[in-house]
Amino acid sequence: MLQYYEPQQDLGTPARVSERLVSLTIDGFELSVPEGTSVMRAAALAGIKVPKLCATDSVEAFGSCRVCLVEIQGRKGYPASCTTPAEQGMVVRTQTQALAGLRRNVLELYISDHPLDCLTCSANGDCELQDVAGEVGLRKVRYGVEGASHLGAVKDESNPYFAFDPSKCIVCSRCVRACEEVQGTFALTVQGRGFDSKIAAGQGGSFMESDCVSCGACVQACPTATLQEKSVIETGVPEHTVLTTCAYCGVGCSFRAEMRGDTVVRMVPNKDGKANEGHSCVKGRFAFGYTTHKDRIRHPMIRNTIDEPWREVSWDEAFGFAAKRFREIQQKYGRNSVGAITSSRCTNEETWLVQKLVRAGFGNNNVDTCARVCHSPTGYGLKATLGESAGTQSFSSVAEADVVMVMGANPTEAHPVFASRLKKRLREGAQLIVVDPRRIALVSSPHIHAEHHLQLRPGTNVAFVNAMAHVIVTEGLEKRDFVEARCDLAQWQQWCDFISQPEHSPEATASVTGIPAADLRVAARLFAGAANAAIYYGLGVTEHSQGSTTVMGIANLAMATGNLGRRGVGVNPLRGQNNVQGSCDMGSFPHEFPGYRHVSDPGVRASFEAAWGVELDGEPGMRIPNMFDAALDGRFRGMYVQGEDLAQSDPNTQHVEAALRGLECVVVQDLFLNETAMFAHVFLPGATFLEKDGTFTNAERRISRVRRAVAPLAGLEDWQITQKLANALGYPMHYRHASEIMDEIARLTPTFTGVSYEKLDTLGSIQWPCNEHAPEGTPTMHVDTFVRGKGYFAMTPFVPTEERASSRLPLLLTTGRILSQYNVGAQTRRTENLRFHSEDLLEIHPHDAEERGICSGDWVGLVSRAGETVLRAEVTDRVQPGVLYTTFHHPVSGANVVTTDNSDWATNCPEYKVTAVQASKVSAPSEWQQRQKAFSARQQQFLEQAITEAGTPA
Ligand code: SF4
Ligand code: SF4
Ligand code: SF4
Ligand code: FES
Repeated sequence: MLQYYEPQQDLGTPARVSERLVSLTIDGFELSVPEGTSVMRAAALAGIKVPKLCATDSVEAFGSCRVCLVEIQGRKGYPASCTTPAEQGMVVRTQTQALAGLRRNVLELYISDHPLDCLTCSANGDCELQDVAGEVGLRKVRYGVEGASHLGAVKDESNPYFAFDPSKCIVCSRCVRACEEVQGTFALTVQGRGFDSKIAAGQGGSFMESDCVSCGACVQACPTATLQEKSVIETGVPEHTVLTTCAYCGVGCSFRAEMRGDTVVRMVPNKDGKANEGHSCVKGRFAFGYTTHKDRIRHPMIRNTIDEPWREVSWDEAFGFAAKRFREIQQKYGRNSVGAITSSRCTNEETWLVQKLVRAGFGNNNVDTCARVCHSPTGYGLKATLGESAGTQSFSSVAEADVVMVMGANPTEAHPVFASRLKKRLREGAQLIVVDPRRIALVSSPHIHAEHHLQLRPGTNVAFVNAMAHVIVTEGLEKRDFVEARCDLAQWQQWCDFISQPEHSPEATASVTGIPAADLRVAARLFAGAANAAIYYGLGVTEHSQGSTTVMGIANLAMATGNLGRRGVGVNPLRGQNNVQGSCDMGSFPHEFPGYRHVSDPGVRASFEAAWGVELDGEPGMRIPNMFDAALDGRFRGMYVQGEDLAQSDPNTQHVEAALRGLECVVVQDLFLNETAMFAHVFLPGATFLEKDGTFTNAERRISRVRRAVAPLAGLEDWQITQKLANALGYPMHYRHASEIMDEIARLTPTFTGVSYEKLDTLGSIQWPCNEHAPEGTPTMHVDTFVRGKGYFAMTPFVPTEERASSRLPLLLTTGRILSQYNVGAQTRRTENLRFHSEDLLEIHPHDAEERGICSGDWVGLVSRAGETVLRAEVTDRVQPGVLYTTFHHPVSGANVVTTDNSDWATNCPEYKVTAVQASKVSAPSEWQQRQKAFSARQQQFLEQAITEAGTPA
């Protein structure tokens, strides 16, 4: 998929969907297009290029530049083709002498107020103004440059990623419309009139001072060098492209990595990408600088103990060292004393190989994944009720929703490109219910206002979903036809009896949830009465002691109201990391083979034994928390960790650190010396998404290709590293390319039977299940019947968490993410995104702050029953009284030092979202933070020593 650079085709105006076609003739060609299509787009579809400047197909036409004029038989004058809809029988001419003259005149006026520096301009060769001037045959400009002009306008370079040079602006407003229509932020305006009109960010200050979220949609829309990536200014315009997939969040945006030689010049969202349709956020578009950051580890390293310096060694020595240690541990402590952790940052192929290494190489099922600590309750809850451990829709489905309930998710921060789609639908009139303890941006933002913000107390999700269901059942709002046709009726009846009990009413639960009963009743009626109601939820649902119960409660709501099996509805888990869905699909859990099949199933086991040539263990292995506990009591001694930073991301950090410290062999495979690597004996330097082939599966079950754009910095792709480790362990693997791993996945996993790299190249992406019944994939699940047969209404009794506010720990801490940082920040902290968010802050309500004498900017000590840390305060009423909130992107914050080891009853997903704490003003970092600082400094010394001794460049 390496291609010479060509901008993606721009058809001028957005597509129209209509069953009615109109036929017209353009320059003698006859064609038919859907009703409502512009003449410009119709011409472009026929391969006829009409010059244009203010039109682009990502935003609605505006008709301001007058370059795209055409002649239409029987009409007076010269209409703009971008704003004129194609009509039946229309006869259009796009190239006449008169049109050429008019277009040249317009271009002359533009160029007379434009710097004449094309040859030295950073956009030379990639500028639509330059192209159009050439297309219309502009040879000279009759107007002098002596009069008033904009040539001296001052450049704004405040944004770390793009520059704004108003001297080159033609005020076409494509940027303004992109910010409004594509991104939905409304940060830009056209200020002034006539000659004085200019583009302004916010109130006319700099981009960094405005509401701009650096999504780059305006930069992409700009036809000149006015808004341009700094990387292009520095490196030059690209000369080839590689199609790949973003390695950050679960939206899974498709990108063109635009390159010069082996340098990535810019990442441009792919218009044909079905998850993002040409849009992106600041992370995917701009935050790729970590891939060449000086902190990248370039050579394998080993050491005997964690108190020794690292030693750079050859790959073979590192593999030999690791394999010998693992085998010695197994001989001494037994087969089950070692295991591995896969990562949702890694590809499907990499994850597949790690679980295969564990099952076939280690001979046990001790494999778990970071999905354990985020969306494992989604797998459990959706499997139990609907029959499949995955979301039900495509992202594009939200365009047909009438009511959207967003629960425990913050899409504008964590799933920004989906948030832009959602906001577009809300601006079109869909209604929104937000269920969140905190006032997230969606509650109220430009042109968006949630119908209901149900501000529940942390830890009361089950009481809330039960109250919603209670209203629906007791007020007769259920969709009886749907339930009778699609669901287990005996179970439905039992569930109705359960949910109708008065204890589940909004009035009875109000004192628990904090949601006024009347508000909840109105919201439930709105949800149940919608033609199409969709539920989107996130970690605010799953990361609780009753995470699985809430997921089942959500599925119950969707079934009871008939909101499954078509577009515009559904149960949609917003997955945190890029490949959470994939890492689960690939058999990363200790009780399941790939495709969610239990290890005790002899038939399934036999199929893997036949393919892998070894006997496999039928007993489930250890989950992550079990591994830590077993490490502390001496039963578990060795761990292979691929792409996951357990020491930072798992709860109760001190417990995790004690467990890691106790291990005799920790092998970390990662890009950077992360917090977990401080406890490692072997470090295997991994490859970034730009350095390898593979696939990611996003939150819509969409499998997309990751393609190698540059060579791996340390020499090996991650699947090659696992393969070589397996070979060193004595379990042979001989894949020559990642595609061969996908072929094996397809052979052994029923939902992937029809997937291959060849098909992915042809279709672009595929939503599983993809098999003989659905050869091109399945955009919407459970269309005629549920995967499990009849939908199952699971009982969802509310059991309050043990983590409650008390007189000693009177506040509840909850955690979340911010747009510019990603997860533990290993990648984004090593980019300019640090300028948007350089530290984790503690949000505290003015009432709680005043009681404690805390002001914004003060250091606040947080104490929980698990530990203590110190963060800086931000006093805000975004949080309710009694609730604190922080992000967890910086290791020094120690957010997980205070989170406890409470977890979901079914899956052990940690209860990150509820921690009882006390907060007080302090003046020094916590003891843990001081210890950690010293420990990190020592480990950094060990690394520098290794690099110096080996004489390799840092
Ligand atoms: S900045 Fe670019 S897109 Fe915006 S008005 Fe100026 S030329 Fe047009
Ligand atoms: S970068 Fe995005 S948010 Fe910022 S002004 Fe441009 S379109 Fe708007
Ligand atoms: S971080 Fe998510 S929303 Fe942003 S570009 Fe990447 S996949 Fe898309
Ligand atoms: S492109 Fe049609 S008026 Fe500008």
